[in-house]
Amino acid sequence: MAILEVTSDVYSVGSQDWNRTLFDAFIGLPKGTSYNAHLIRGSEKTALLNAIDPDKEEELITHLIRLKVSHIDYIVALHTEQDHSGAIPMLLELFPSAVVVCTESGMDLLGRHLGVDPQRCKVISDNETLSLGNKTLQFMITPWVHWPDSMLAYCPEDKILFSCDLFGSHYATSDLFVTDFAEEKVLAKRYFAEIMMPFRSSIVEYLKRLEALEIDIIAPSHGPCVKPASFILDLYRVWTSDETENLVVIPYVSMHGSVKRMVHHLSDVLVEQGVAVQLFDLTTADTGDIAASLVDARTLILGVPTMLFGPHPLAASVAFVANMVRPKTKYLGIIGSYGWGGRTVEVLLELTAMMQAERLEPVYIQGAPDGETYDALDALAQVIIEKHHEN
Ligand code: FEO
Repeated sequence: MAILEVTSDVYSVGSQDWNRTLFDAFIGLPKGTSYNAHLIRGSEKTALLNAIDPDKEEELITHLIRLKVSHIDYIVALHTEQDHSGAIPMLLELFPSAVVVCTESGMDLLGRHLGVDPQRCKVISDNETLSLGNKTLQFMITPWVHWPDSMLAYCPEDKILFSCDLFGSHYATSDLFVTDFAEEKVLAKRYFAEIMMPFRSSIVEYLKRLEALEIDIIAPSHGPCVKPASFILDLYRVWTSDETENLVVIPYVSMHGSVKRMVHHLSDVLVEQGVAVQLFDLTTADTGDIAASLVDARTLILGVPTMLFGPHPLAASVAFVANMVRPKTKYLGIIGSYGWGGRTVEVLLELTAMMQAERLEPVYIQGAPDGETYDALDALAQVIIEKHHEN
């Protein structure tokens, strides 16, 4: 990637990973990702914020050489995960007087994951500032965006918030700043759903604290910089709020057609009565798209056949993911069909135990749907409609 200047003496020196297709060996990356790092040349001190994925460390070093960086005072580790700190051990060898600036938790995790010597670390506390001369870094300790070690750094002179994982988006781009805001909204929402949504309540508090800062630019560690910052801050206010939309999301699998017929019947009744529905056939659907839909959905209905003794594995996987990302979805239902037995409903309820959603009465039948089944689905639809009207 080219070296681009965010503001005067603040350089983007990270890497675009155009070809990466999976993050954490699970999260799909349809448009790659980036590992952003920023070099700040103050009048007295030089700081590097984040140290990118070790697979790309040569690119980071090349950028530093091209900028003729012979000395780094501070390597700021906003977060330990290897995509942001993986190159720190190599940087500490290249810059023997550099100090790693991190949280207390960060120091512990940097030692455990990357073998960083605590003697090379400076632990920062909440609201502490670090002067670089004509530029300042002001730190805000923000556990759980994304790990317990996370913090943000604000440069008041340039009104930039370096937010690491928070406010990020997974896509590679040659643009330093967001140019296509519609695309940013889609990809940032997908990213929020998969990575940040479990920490919604913490983010609400951080958003309140950020209101005290004058922020022009948000420079996350994945995806382009966002200017105006209010674009992503406003989206996060909506996504982290308790508000849901009049939307039912129905991921489903159907082996012999029964579940599909049930799903489409329920969907048709809901749509005809003014409820928006999103269907996902799990044999082809993308997990990131499903997670993104759960950012707004008021109800989640799992359409699941029984396979051997329990839920079809594709549906079990989605239930597990929904449980993990903890959406604000208010109602959860299960519909489906079994052949001769099994514990599908019980297993799905166990898999979604951490979801706060109210459980709706399942419609789970043996064999093909009949008139009685469709009556039960009509009744379920009426319950959903009434509950949606209450909210
Ligand atoms: Fe982008 Fe939690 O690492």
